[in-house]
Amino acid sequence: MISKNTIAEIFDKMAIEDIVGDFVSLRNRGVNKLGLCPFHNEKTPSFTVSPAKNIFKCFGCGRGGNGIDFLMEHEALSYPEALRYVAKMYNIDVEEDVTKAEDRTESLYRESLQIVNNFALDHYKDALHNTDLGRSVGLGYMKQRGFTDKTIATFELGFAARSPRNAFTQKAVEAGYNEDMLRALGLTNKHGSDFFFDRIMFPIHSLSGLVLAFAGRILKKNDNAPKYLNSPETEIYQKRKILFGMHLAKRAIRNENLCFLVEGYTDVMMMHQHGVENVVATSGTALTPDQIRIIKRYTENICLIFDADQAGVKASVRGIDLILEADMNVQILTLPEGEDPDSFVQSKGQAGFAEYFEEEVKDFLLYKAELGKLATADDPVHRAQTIQELVDSISKIQDGIKRHLYVKETAALMNIPESALVEELEKKLEKNHQRSRAAEFRNAQKEKEKPNSEVSPQSEKKKSVDLRLEENIIRILIQHGDKPIDEEQNVTEFVIENLEDVVDFFEDETLKAILEIYQEFNEKSEVPDLHYLTHETSTEIRKTVIDLQEGRFDSHYSENWVKMWDMDLQTQPAPQKNQKRDVQEAIMRFKLNKATKLCDLNKQEIQKYEAEDNMVEYLKHLQIQQKLIEMRNVFAKEFQTTVLK
Ligand code: UTP
Ligand code: MN
Repeated sequence: MISKNTIAEIFDKMAIEDIVGDFVSLRNRGVNKLGLCPFHNEKTPSFTVSPAKNIFKCFGCGRGGNGIDFLMEHEALSYPEALRYVAKMYNIDVEEDVTKAEDRTESLYRESLQIVNNFALDHYKDALHNTDLGRSVGLGYMKQRGFTDKTIATFELGFAARSPRNAFTQKAVEAGYNEDMLRALGLTNKHGSDFFFDRIMFPIHSLSGLVLAFAGRILKKNDNAPKYLNSPETEIYQKRKILFGMHLAKRAIRNENLCFLVEGYTDVMMMHQHGVENVVATSGTALTPDQIRIIKRYTENICLIFDADQAGVKASVRGIDLILEADMNVQILTLPEGEDPDSFVQSKGQAGFAEYFEEEVKDFLLYKAELGKLATADDPVHRAQTIQELVDSISKIQDGIKRHLYVKETAALMNIPESALVEELEKKLEKNHQRSRAAEFRNAQKEKEKPNSEVSPQSEKKKSVDLRLEENIIRILIQHGDKPIDEEQNVTEFVIENLEDVVDFFEDETLKAILEIYQEFNEKSEVPDLHYLTHETSTEIRKTVIDLQEGRFDSHYSENWVKMWDMDLQTQPAPQKNQKRDVQEAIMRFKLNKATKLCDLNKQEIQKYEAEDNMVEYLKHLQIQQKLIEMRNVFAKEFQTTVLK
């Protein structure tokens, strides 16, 4: 665990613009910096970085947070990983707290798995480079296949020796690593021997370059053993969320605005070696929506590279639809018969590959159409089927204009009137729409069936009023908590004092938690500052605080807002009297709403007991009603005298 001191130092030194600036190009806009949001598609920048507040906020998709939040989201890092990343950026020494044995939080466990994997990586690398067998057999094999020392080092390849059968496990246990953990990672089998032996080791990295798992390639062809053995899934390794080579490819993908997707580990390595660095592979599985989402952070354009054989073609068709559904563009490059990316780029080089790509890359539509034509010649039944499949893919495209262009293209390609295609397409779209509506309905139905859920439309509406009133109070605290309300009190003191009796009525957990932070600080006559609220609190609190700290801009993004903000900074703070009135109004509205609500609820109880003929409860609730109405009237009167006068 990273010590509190180190975390404080990291928070102290990190500058949001440094961290974000590595991934997003930012331009100056008044006191802030502005860029295209890396988390959603946009053409006009609404991603805002405030160096003064040390936070970011996107007015398009609503994401916001501090530098650590940004890294966790953008680079898919865990909290400690993000802290270490920043520590490295600023050359901060990371001090570790010695933790108790029973302190086994999940993140600690993940960190431990990581540490064991790093040990394994070092072992396998050492075996490849510093043992006779590793050099002759392992390195020899990779060199003979054309891989350079540099590529082998970049991808951190290693070697697992044939014997002794427990070389790695024994070394790890001797070094003090827990055998259960070695087993959990699939490095050691249940008999205590090494899982990988006599294989070239390919580490599989996270986006930030941490080793999550391994694949071991057999050295000699053997029909009785699989070519690749892969680590099992663990807390840190989920196949469907990982792309091989992404940690090395992400910058190039962003720069080229294109991601090549290939099938094999060696294909990625050889293309990288020949200067095509924007390339990744799945780990021997079909492309998943999670993987597509990762690519989408860097580009909207994917090019699938496939061998000419049938297996590749089948896999690609499903992948195409998934990419289209993610609102991305997909092209297909089919290699000549008998070639894979590894062999092709090795014989043709970077320039040869680029040339082939220019000439042969096909839009998904042309690719599918040709696939169809190939199998069908002029048979009308098959032609109709091909057209149906094309329309099917087009119906997955989110963008209406793109759909239209593809309809035009298909019409020309398949020699069929556009109107016929449009009709088909509309049917499909309607069907997709119905399907998603049906899913929505089913989900809503499920929600209703859950015990204790109160999703009746009426309480929904009430809830949003409550939420707005609660938000209003917290917004005032965040924006003005430290300002004086009169000669004696600041806004925080005033709010806490006036809310004391109704704090428990706060319904939104996050807003209530923020209020409690203010209460805690207030007891020491302090007010929490924005840095504390956006750096040292839970994720939900941070998010809410960032949403509320600039209330005027929360509904939509205005081109002028930065200018307005600048101006606002230059003008005088509002007169104290108005400040007090605003605060009072927010509190009174909240209280009045609560009292009214309690009256309504109690009225329902009364009716219930009346219907049940439960006289005791009925009378008791009548009395309660009396009290509640009194209370409400007091609030209403206060409201009138302080707010409406
Ligand atoms: P390939 O058979 O094309 O292997 O499998 P490759 O990567 O080109 O390797 P070389 O060139 O023969 O050395 C493609 C991918 O399928 C997965 C691996 O991810 C591999 O990179 N695979 C293949 C397995 O997971 N297990 C296997 O037994 C075979
Ligand atoms: Mn291969």
